[in-house]
Amino acid sequence: MIDIFTPDVKHVDSFYECMDSIAKERIHFAITSSYTRGQISSWIMRFRMKGWPIVIAAEDDKVVGFASVVPETGEGRDHWGTLIMGVQDGYRGQGIGKRLLASVVSKAQAAGLVRIELWVRERNTSAIALYQRFGFQVTGRRTGCTKLAGQEVEDEILMEKSYENVRTI
Ligand SMILES: CC(C)(COP(=O)(O)OP(=O)(O)OC[C@H]1O[C@@H](n2cnc3c(N)ncnc32)[C@H](O)[C@@H]1OP(=O)(O)O)[C@@H](O)C(=O)NCCC(=O)NCCS
Repeated sequence: MIDIFTPDVKHVDSFYECMDSIAKERIHFAITSSYTRGQISSWIMRFRMKGWPIVIAAEDDKVVGFASVVPETGEGRDHWGTLIMGVQDGYRGQGIGKRLLASVVSKAQAAGLVRIELWVRERNTSAIALYQRFGFQVTGRRTGCTKLAGQEVEDEILMEKSYENVRTI
């Protein structure tokens, strides 16, 4: 059974394997290999300490997916964060992405974040469909910013979701 929960440092190696396998597909992420184990460990510990949103999907502690909203810091910007997520190949299309996103969005709200944004490669139609299901709207585009060897140049789409009118200032 796959559970969705906040990771601990014991999940670092498996988290690394999961992120690395998705990055190495070279079709979803802008990165082509995982963050290092040290970076993942710091990420988990810092987010646990601060109560910031990070969750994994795991089967007997084998990580098969993750999601996090990385908050901006500093006065004036600490009301929002950037979503990153992924589900390992072989586990997709089973509702894990929906469960991860529902969990991380609710944790982001609980942490006081009122706006979430993300960047997604324009050909990643399954991710865009998932985000739209959760009320994210397309608000921008940066052209030609993904240019991996052997692939056509690709735009990235900006999507965002706000829980209050942050444009009234
Ligand atoms: C995008 C991703 C997170 C979706 O996770 P998932 O576990 O496969 O998704 P789910 O099974 O929960 O499906 C959720 C919704 O996503 C959309 N979706 C998923 N697979 C899809 C597909 N092949 N085609 C179109 N829409 C799809 C649908 O809206 C679906 O809802 P529905 O089944 O009720 O119609 C997953 O495909 C993934 O990790 N891909 C690689 C990494 C990645 O793209 N990360 C995001 C980078 S911005």
